[in-house]
Amino acid sequence: MTSTSLVVAVAVVLPVLVFVLVRAAARRRPADVTPAPAVLAGGHPIFGFATVHGRDRTQQKLMAARTGAPIVNVPNGFSGLLLVNDVEYVKRTFQASSQRLDEGFFSINHSQDVLSIEPEEQWRPMRRRLNQFFTAANVNGMFPKVYASASDTAKRLRATVKAHGDPMLYHDLTPIVQRSVMDSLVRCVFSRPFDEALDTQRIHLIDRLNATMVANFIDHLPVLRYVNPLYREHFRVGQALSELSRKELDDRASLIAELGAESKDVPHDLVSNLLGVGVRPTADDMVFTKKMEVDNINIFFFAGLDTTSQSLLFALALLGLHPDVMAKAVKEVDQVFAELGLDQDDNDAGADDQGDELRITHDDFVSKLVYLDKIVKEATRLYPSASGTSRVIHEDTQIGEHFVRKGTRLFLNFAGIARMPKHFEKADEFYPEHFDEEAVKARDHHAYFPFGGGARACIGFKLAQQEQRVILAHLLHNFTFEIHPQQKIEVVTGLTNNFKGPLRMRILPRVLPGRD
Ligand code: HEM
Repeated sequence: MTSTSLVVAVAVVLPVLVFVLVRAAARRRPADVTPAPAVLAGGHPIFGFATVHGRDRTQQKLMAARTGAPIVNVPNGFSGLLLVNDVEYVKRTFQASSQRLDEGFFSINHSQDVLSIEPEEQWRPMRRRLNQFFTAANVNGMFPKVYASASDTAKRLRATVKAHGDPMLYHDLTPIVQRSVMDSLVRCVFSRPFDEALDTQRIHLIDRLNATMVANFIDHLPVLRYVNPLYREHFRVGQALSELSRKELDDRASLIAELGAESKDVPHDLVSNLLGVGVRPTADDMVFTKKMEVDNINIFFFAGLDTTSQSLLFALALLGLHPDVMAKAVKEVDQVFAELGLDQDDNDAGADDQGDELRITHDDFVSKLVYLDKIVKEATRLYPSASGTSRVIHEDTQIGEHFVRKGTRLFLNFAGIARMPKHFEKADEFYPEHFDEEAVKARDHHAYFPFGGGARACIGFKLAQQEQRVILAHLLHNFTFEIHPQQKIEVVTGLTNNFKGPLRMRILPRVLPGRD
């Protein structure tokens, strides 16, 4: 063997060996948590991250572990990750730090300038700038787009069900809900409805990006990028997604150049905002590069699609399994539609395809869907998209009797806390009354944090909550859903917790006054 081929062999074989050993060690990690030692120090981010986002069911077991300990060490063969199970510590951690453990760690991070994984110094000004778009007023202002989208979903679904002709048929709701959420997102980002070719491809690319996410771990062993097909696919898919976003971004930039940023014909949406329309200067003003604009568009789709659609699927499945709750929800929804006279004209509330002339506001509609809100929150409590979130502690900290070293990674265990009987009366049951006003007031605020917390909480949470209620309201108002007798709720754990499809439901169009 020549010395060159020896070097090549070592360069290829060694990282493969290390990778295999790491994987094997990670598999050996115990299924249950162990008591925390008195002095706790976080391990390496790769292994910490692997503990939380492992692809097997260990994560679910960990997250469901309702240990009495406020903080527990989760060993995974190499190092530990501290699981925080106590709401007081959750609160303190959110207040003390906004650095997540995956920050600066993803492979995607080396090539992407994006809010969710930007190192803290860049994250801060980027977040301040993007917060300007995600204010309550702005997000509520997007209601006509979200409403028009949901209304369109219902119309399309009526047509599809009619075309099938067989009322006894069970449909899989997964693609229907996913398309509906994507439709709503593209309207908020680009002010246009779902484009069959473009956005079907976008959904497919996001699915593949998720499926190849394991490649992120490999980035730390660069040689493997070239031998692992998942990495190559991950990279290719990321590029393709960026191409789609860049094209629409460029088109908008040309429109703004032609009409001027002040023109009322420039749509008020996320892409205009990224291009600086309506942005107020701030002290630490950040000028967005083209790459930041493209990457942030991608993250809004990536972070907003699966989370929102999966939580809707869990909610629909739970409703299917609890017809009494479903009946109560339908009653509320019907009442809101009737009071607002939404069934009287064929054109809904006067909405055109874009919702431009909609005569009702967010408060008229969304704020009235009180019981539906409880249902969505309760479904998310039982089956959260994100099992929790993480923070890196910047200073040596005393947590109860534990001394936690600076640099330690904490995983704030939402999934575990949300199933604790001390916070939720019927912890393992689907019981929307957990979100009755009095119950919420009596409970510690930090016992429920599906969108994270502190300065780094999910930037899209108001939009997600609005979409969930508006889409669900349109579905329940337009159809009767009957769940397949053998349908179960199972979770597939990847980067997020997903519904193990198909979700089989019989979809029967309801007779609506003024429509049928
Ligand atoms: C049900 C739907 C959703 C859930 C459960 C969810 C959950 C989360 C969670 C747990 C985090 C981490 C927060 C933290 O560390 O404290 C997060 C971050 C984020 N989410 Fe969401 N999310 C949802 C929808 C959305 C939507 C619709 C968008 C965009 C339009 C979005 C964009 C983001 C972004 C950009 C971040 C990173 C924020 C930062 O690092 O500053 N999410 N989300």
